[in-house]
Amino acid sequence: MCGIFGLITNQEIDIGKITLESIKRLEYRGYDSCGVATITDGKLFIKKDAGKIDEIHKKLKLDSFPNGSKLAVAHTRWATHGPPTKINSHPHVDCSNKIAICHNGIIDNFIELKEDLISKGHEFKSETDTEVIAHLIEEFMNMGLDFKEASKEAMKKCVGGFAIVACHVDYPNYLIVVRKESPLIVGIEEGKTAYCASDIPAFLPYTRKCYVLNDNEMAVLRAGEVEFYSLQEEKKISKELQEIEWSIDAAEKGGYDHFMLKEIHEEPLALRKTLKIPKDEIQKFAKILVNSEKIYITAAGTSFYASLAGKFIITRFLGKYIEAIECSEFQIQLEDCMENNAAVIAVSQSGETIDLIEAVRWAKEKKNAKILAITNIVGSSLTRYSDEAIVTRAGPEIGVAATKTYSTQVLTLAIIALEIAEILKSIPDEELEKYRKALAKTPDIVEHLLNNDIKKLKKIVRNLEKSHNFFFLARGISIATAKEGGLKLKEIACRFVEGYSAAHAKHGPISLVRKGFPIIFIAPPDETYERLVGNVMEFKARGGLIISVVVESDKIISELSDITIRIDQPASKYFNLFTPITFIPALQLLAYFYAVYVGLNPDQPQNLAKTVTVH
Ligand code: M6R
Repeated sequence: MCGIFGLITNQEIDIGKITLESIKRLEYRGYDSCGVATITDGKLFIKKDAGKIDEIHKKLKLDSFPNGSKLAVAHTRWATHGPPTKINSHPHVDCSNKIAICHNGIIDNFIELKEDLISKGHEFKSETDTEVIAHLIEEFMNMGLDFKEASKEAMKKCVGGFAIVACHVDYPNYLIVVRKESPLIVGIEEGKTAYCASDIPAFLPYTRKCYVLNDNEMAVLRAGEVEFYSLQEEKKISKELQEIEWSIDAAEKGGYDHFMLKEIHEEPLALRKTLKIPKDEIQKFAKILVNSEKIYITAAGTSFYASLAGKFIITRFLGKYIEAIECSEFQIQLEDCMENNAAVIAVSQSGETIDLIEAVRWAKEKKNAKILAITNIVGSSLTRYSDEAIVTRAGPEIGVAATKTYSTQVLTLAIIALEIAEILKSIPDEELEKYRKALAKTPDIVEHLLNNDIKKLKKIVRNLEKSHNFFFLARGISIATAKEGGLKLKEIACRFVEGYSAAHAKHGPISLVRKGFPIIFIAPPDETYERLVGNVMEFKARGGLIISVVVESDKIISELSDITIRIDQPASKYFNLFTPITFIPALQLLAYFYAVYVGLNPDQPQNLAKTVTVH
């Protein structure tokens, strides 16, 4: 939520252009307002407004910086405190107009700090919590501290989860960067330019060398160099320089109209890369699960639906129940009953979802749980709080709607499941081999859909244009697919969708069905198929428009359907178990084409942000 960017250089480079392009690459984190600031000739220059970056750029020429600018701080906002207005846009300044600050996250104690600062004569312009930081630094500077020391003291006073970048007109040779809970990465072109950003793609075209800041750490960025401090221990610290493996193409649209479409097309490659995760990484996870008496799996949103699918696959071979619980409910529901020494599988593409981070920290600290993380981001907060971490190989995902990260999460959980089957010998070797072969085929099945069925899926959307309500129904493992497919349509096409159990839908939701009400049935030929046929008939009898997702050879449900989406895979139990991976791209594409057809931007769904770092 919110993207921040900073840059300081000694090179003759086009800072304005770099800054604009960098915040564009962070726009997925929030897009209700934006702003940039620089310092030249002892003066602060700020351009900011409410709206999307392109709209503001048209009005203000965001990339046009005064001559001689050697630094920039910039922001793209997802409003928390105060509506999206020009005044509430970042950067924010102090009373003397010397400090400019960009912030991601929330200062929990900002009201108390603001009251105190007002009583000391500070004048506030915005409704944001962020502005407090600028005035707090100013206050410490009024007491005689320099910018660096004042920033350190100010940040120690702030409670909450945040990341900031700040500059000061009297100290134009450095930027201050602080992290507590919200992500922040420092990129470095040694001797030339230093960058900071909420996410790597912001500076990926310029450098692959980076440092990941941990909580309660501060960095001082100078042209081409950086030093780190611990806020708590009052000392300088050293950090390991990391090399980013992602290619810049992965962070660009590469000829596609939207990141979402590009990322759906990247699924086969992402799955193939994830299949290559070294066996020893998988084994560590599998062994802990085999040896744990109690296992939980937790996540939010799409990652939670991946967890539901993964839990189903793992329990097949583990023979133990896994409790799936949304991370926002984890502590409140388990406070009085969670056993000590349980294993907790925590799933998150960003590794920064605040509710998940809080859940795992609580489980680790209070219940001595072993945390097993599955995330797409190396060095994310989740990896730091976990005992073991597997990084999915989806590559950067910019579209707000999770697509390739979902299928690689399910795949990772499926690989772990088969490892467990091997350790426990819960199925004969020949069976295990057949499951392995089916899993290895998942990228090809997805690729086949992408190469052959795009036109057909686009056409289906035209039949659904007037519908504003949908059911996505399924049984067994496919309930996860129904929920995830439904979430995609809900979030990017702004339709009301209920992703539900087909069996349970009789206990209430069916009362909504009238002639033409669209119901999408996820119907692989597994042990639930026969009963699902009955459910399809119940909805058809009430005039529902039946759309089914089935395998190529399907006869019965496709016959009952008005529209059929066929996935070219064998009707076999080995393949059925992995349909959460092979069926989902069709539903992602359906949602994508629907959003485009009704004139919405699938990459920027209203009110959403890619990484949810507020409660
Ligand atoms: O980064 P995470 O996987 O922890 O994010 C969890 C959810 O916020 C995320 O999946 C959200 O539901 C997306 N909008 C789904 O497309």
